[in-house]
Amino acid sequence: MGKGIYGLNSKSGGTVHMPVMVSEVLKAFDDSPEGWLIDGTFGLGGHSSALLERYPHRKVFGIDLDADSLAMSEERFRKFNNRTLIVNGNYADMAILARESGIEPVGGILLDLGLSSMQLETLGRGFSFRNDEMLDMRYNQSQGLPAAELVNTFESDQLTNIFSNFGEEKAAKRIAKAVCQNRPIMTTGKLAKIVQETVGRRGKSRRHPATKVFQALRIAVNREFENLIKGLSSGLDLLSDRGKFVILTYHSLEDRIVKQFFKKESLDCVCSTRIPFCVCDHRSRLRIITKKVKIPTIEEVSLNPRSRSAKLRIVEKIV
Ligand SMILES: C[S@@+](CC[C@H](N)C(=O)[O-])C[C@H]1O[C@@H](n2cnc3c(N)ncnc32)[C@H](O)[C@@H]1O
Repeated sequence: MGKGIYGLNSKSGGTVHMPVMVSEVLKAFDDSPEGWLIDGTFGLGGHSSALLERYPHRKVFGIDLDADSLAMSEERFRKFNNRTLIVNGNYADMAILARESGIEPVGGILLDLGLSSMQLETLGRGFSFRNDEMLDMRYNQSQGLPAAELVNTFESDQLTNIFSNFGEEKAAKRIAKAVCQNRPIMTTGKLAKIVQETVGRRGKSRRHPATKVFQALRIAVNREFENLIKGLSSGLDLLSDRGKFVILTYHSLEDRIVKQFFKKESLDCVCSTRIPFCVCDHRSRLRIITKKVKIPTIEEVSLNPRSRSAKLRIVEKIV
């Protein structure tokens, strides 16, 4: 739920986050209808500032769970003061947040999922095994349970499910057992070491062996898939006719959720193929614009390696 609207008058932060596929995202909104653009994952406002510059007549409603990120953007957004409204909240609640703030009509919505480079690199957030710090991983540190709580209190089976379902980690069961045997685990460094000792380095992979476990815990701590499912449905309800829904994902599981939701909502019938006639009354509510998912150019990936796993999907609402 929103905690308030940010003024635009504090010092900006120093950490850089390079927004991903900016020109493709901007182009997606080119022929979107009049009305607000919602940036449901405002972060440091990289995409939002590009949108405000490209469309001088439009307004942006920004939402982010992380109050620190929003505070860091205040200074930079001062010049857009009369065209931005930014709240600390969850995009899953965007319909309520928009209603509370009188945001209508809505001509476009952007979700740039996951976490920013700033969050990954800032000390004290506990997202990364590169720094040894408290295992936290919450986007909003005043809500929910930190990762250390899950790691130290969940049953081995629950941890196995998290590592397997949210990280597609093949050694999920072995890692969960090792975690339970080595409790308490309060820091990112200790968890990374336990995973590394359990599975070892994998072939020639340059990825740290704990990458998938850390991703899985972050998804569980922040209920990322639940939020995504709610946000997709809430966003589609909010959009006006021909409004654009633009989503950037960074791993296959979240991309699958987006792809399946868009596919289903693009169909006039979702009955099983075993039923000879339609009994579902389902009506298509969107048109898929990106028939083939878009990915960043080689140039972008070489400039910003964190963009390498990005996938962009764009749809248009049909009323
Ligand atoms: C990849 S970053 C977005 C970066 C942003 N597009 C930019 O250019 O600065 C993702 C952001 O989404 C936020 N976030 C993650 N889950 C969220 C949720 N359910 N509701 C609102 N914000 C969320 C994170 O705190 C993070 O700031």
